Amino acid sequence: MTIKAIAFDAYGTLFDVHTVVDKCEEFFPGQGRQFSEIWRQKQLEYSWLRSLMGRYKDFWEITEDALQFTLKELKLEADEDTRTALLHEYLQLKPYPEVPEALERLKDKNLAILSNGSPQMLHTLVENARLSHVFSNLISVDELKTFKPFMGVYQLSPATLGVPREETLFVSSNSWDAAGAKTFGFQVCWINRFNKQFDELGAEPDRVITQLDELIDQI
Ligand code: 2OP
Repeated sequence: MTIKAIAFDAYGTLFDVHTVVDKCEEFFPGQGRQFSEIWRQKQLEYSWLRSLMGRYKDFWEITEDALQFTLKELKLEADEDTRTALLHEYLQLKPYPEVPEALERLKDKNLAILSNGSPQMLHTLVENARLSHVFSNLISVDELKTFKPFMGVYQLSPATLGVPREETLFVSSNSWDAAGAKTFGFQVCWINRFNKQFDELGAEPDRVITQLDELIDQI
């Protein structure tokens, strides 16, 4: 089927959320990886829970709350400067190594990001990675004040890009997000970077790759 646009998830798909490990390690030696894992997991849980409760806070605030939880969980002290330094790492996440060149080579399609990130977070992240020029749009769930996988969020892509869902390829490494996107009716590509299992949500991806550059020869 024709693909006219590609909508990418951001965190964990194009950008490595565990970039923060180094900074965590600086402040809490030996605990960087565990810190980052708990932080990311709580960030996602808070997005789902707040959506269910109808108590939206933007992704920046949720990321801050998840950071606060992680400190408590690991019984670590952090002053305001430390917390700010950690939080700001989320604006400087590194793209996975193959991502910048792969995006350059895919950019004859209409490329966009469709993410939970707040508009400010997404713009700063993409600018810091020097990738602004490859995207036509950075679409944030903030327009709807709820998070993925609410179906209305995926609708923001056809509404913004003017490309129907059937002609849009949605790319995510988060399998629950890929399942949400497939349920919505996108063509879906799951990037399974770390040999994970796909979630049992009754919706399977159309394509599975292990890194983004594999997509170039497929479409
Ligand atoms: C994103 O929306 C879910 O982290 C994911 O970017």
